[in-house]
Amino acid sequence: MELETKALPKLLVRPIVVITTISERGIPNAAPFSMNSPVSRDPPLYGFSCNLAHDTLKNIRENGEFVVNVVGKDFGARMHILEADYPYEDNELVHAGLTEEKAKVVKPPRIKEAIAWIECKREKEVELGEHVLIVGRILAIGVKDEFWKETEVLDVEKAELLCHLSGESFVVDMKEGRYKRAK
Ligand SMILES: Cc1cc2nc3c(=O)[nH]c(=O)nc-3n(C[C@H](O)[C@H](O)[C@H](O)COP(=O)(O)O)c2cc1C
Repeated sequence: MELETKALPKLLVRPIVVITTISERGIPNAAPFSMNSPVSRDPPLYGFSCNLAHDTLKNIRENGEFVVNVVGKDFGARMHILEADYPYEDNELVHAGLTEEKAKVVKPPRIKEAIAWIECKREKEVELGEHVLIVGRILAIGVKDEFWKETEVLDVEKAELLCHLSGESFVVDMKEGRYKRAK
């Protein structure tokens, strides 16, 4: 079967992250993103694609810092809150009942309930029509011990990452086997 080019997001499963930023006055903002990926190991770079209208972009343009919070399927029920269009400086973390935790290097907070945190400083922006590809230099990475200690890679069976296809199509229960670790 051949697909239209714009069907691509329906084909590639992508982990959902929640990106936290702060306004100039230090008020946190959180929003989910699925168009995201590591883009280089050395230098350590992470990239995501952000709509021009998003508060996330406004904040990153103001102070250059963001935290990528890696989340599990327990965040599924919060997606509709985190993606809601609240007024600027209305803190989505409060609406979603999530806990702010001090990040190691950057000013925006980590989300305590997340599995892992990638702290970034903006390195580059590429405007792509309605979206901007933001490339961040990775300054610090943290992961909860329980998702790393035994496996030394992300323990995907425990983490049960929340992944996205398109719109309200989420992937929460990949069949056992797909999640088996490569030796
Ligand atoms: C699962 C999911 C994935 C999303 N992925 C993206 C994305 O990759 N890029 C984007 O610009 N918006 C994406 N959105 C939409 C934003 O999260 C949403 O518009 C949010 O309100 C933006 O918040 P902000 O204005 O506080 O930055 C996604 C929403 C959901 C629920």
